[in-house]
Amino acid sequence: MVFPALPQSAHPESQQRHRKALGAYYTAAPVVQFIVGWGLAQRGGTVMDPSCGDGRFLVAAARQGAGRLIGCNLDPLALQLAKTSLAASSAPPVSWYEGDFFLLSPERVGPVDLIVGNPPFIRYQHFSGERRSRALASALRVSARLSRLAASWAPFLLHAMQFLRHGGAMGMVVPAELAQTTYGTETLRALCAGFGRVRLLTFRRNWFEDAQQETFLLLTERRGERTASAELVPLARIEDLCGVTDQIASNASFCLGAGGQDRVGLAFVAPACRDLVQALGERDDVVRLRAVGEVANGYVSGANDFFHCTAAEGAVRGLPADWLLPVARSSRSLRGLAFSNPDLEHAERGGAKHHLILPHDDDLFAADRSALKAFQCEGERLGVAGRYKCRVRSPWWRVPGLIHAHLLLPYMIGSQPHAAVNRCHALYPNSLHGLRLANPVIAERVALGLLSNLSLLGMELEGRSYGGGVLKLEPTEMQRVHLVLPSCPECELADAFDRADHLLRQGDFGGAVGIADRLILQQQLGLSSAELQVLEEGRSTLVERRLARSRRRVP
Ligand SMILES: C[S@@+](CC[C@H](N)C(=O)[O-])C[C@H]1O[C@@H](n2cnc3c(N)ncnc32)[C@H](O)[C@@H]1O
Repeated sequence: MVFPALPQSAHPESQQRHRKALGAYYTAAPVVQFIVGWGLAQRGGTVMDPSCGDGRFLVAAARQGAGRLIGCNLDPLALQLAKTSLAASSAPPVSWYEGDFFLLSPERVGPVDLIVGNPPFIRYQHFSGERRSRALASALRVSARLSRLAASWAPFLLHAMQFLRHGGAMGMVVPAELAQTTYGTETLRALCAGFGRVRLLTFRRNWFEDAQQETFLLLTERRGERTASAELVPLARIEDLCGVTDQIASNASFCLGAGGQDRVGLAFVAPACRDLVQALGERDDVVRLRAVGEVANGYVSGANDFFHCTAAEGAVRGLPADWLLPVARSSRSLRGLAFSNPDLEHAERGGAKHHLILPHDDDLFAADRSALKAFQCEGERLGVAGRYKCRVRSPWWRVPGLIHAHLLLPYMIGSQPHAAVNRCHALYPNSLHGLRLANPVIAERVALGLLSNLSLLGMELEGRSYGGGVLKLEPTEMQRVHLVLPSCPECELADAFDRADHLLRQGDFGGAVGIADRLILQQQLGLSSAELQVLEEGRSTLVERRLARSRRRVP
């Protein structure tokens, strides 16, 4: 449950803006109780919440016997709420600090035994200026060099750990980015270098309703020591925390090396699957997608409806035929293992515009510029010319960033991702990725290779899933996906390709994957049927997990 720090009387929109600017998403009671209970069992004494909001962690600590409390918050209103809550309970002495936590120094506060809380999550775009400089300078004091993409929570954790006395502990709510981004893994490395034990509790269900992203609980112990890796502890539901303190089921835990090369998703698959992925990754014939080519984002038109049309509409409107360029609009356009003119015509018969309207540069100088003038006037009349993406380019009506790729790949992934060989020189917008091959001749081999369960599992491991359960793979993440190129003769390849293409078009995704698995993983790499099943189950587990997290928390 999420409690806004603004008075309930405030307008919902201003509450939302206020919360976003301060990263003020409050923590559910069971999580607060668990973190404080766990923390005090580790280390009683002085307890600090460096971003205390309405003081719920401090109230819980007071009730559970903390010796002294320290609360800090940037927002005076939230701090006032915290003071009121603490005044109502029979609290131990409390020191309050109103202002930026990054301005607070350990010397001013004195040694702390336990730090608890939920740091503000403010993305780098809004986390700027002096506060950001102070935050990054503090991270450097524990030897963490955070990139420009670092959101506020990362330096917040690193600043907080500097307040702990030797042997102290910290229990915090953290975004899964801690284990999934470069700046997150740099933060994790610094935590591992500063604590004797680092654990991340992960949940099958997304319990933090307002967060777009998956959330972990970070538990660190024995400040002043170091550990080589963090333990990832998968739990089913937040309710499983009830009554759990130090006996958190550790047999299921998975060690996440502090170097950042391990994938978090491996914690959720069977150990046999982990071992198999690791062993396959070491083989010379298993490569990363980047070994065969480069993945690139598609274009952003700025006004999809205006810049796209069907071929039939284009003709009716009298647009010059050479202005209309074929496009694959989204993964829905990719019905089979190849994308060609009949697919484009099929999509357009269904009313989906699959041509980009791109006036020629020459039209600017042509004697008869009537077509271009009409197009410009229409865009101005509809207000397209003034839209952000259009007005920042010149001329506003020419969509930039057009790439011809050999293969088209999904960007947002539901449950059945597959690549398609681009057989009609289609362009693609940013709802897809394109793969340009160093050697275009292998396009069919790459498409079939990416359909094997090894690559599909790789996509689940490399990508990030958001609130809706959709998996998102940025180009660099897609390039890390494992791939085995089928090495069979051309005729065998063509046969497998056509059969897989046919099954995909029939909606039989599993059947198509089976063809790739048997040809590549079984016949070529020599995997047994049992091993194929291990990979398949690993992938299903991860798909099911992210789809389950998209559903609301069960009460
Ligand atoms: C995620 S909320 C957590 C509140 C409370 N600890 C909880 O978990 O329910 C983050 C809080 O950090 C505060 N905050 C944001 N930036 C801060 C900063 N630089 N220093 C101190 N507090 C800050 C916000 O006002 C907000 O109350």
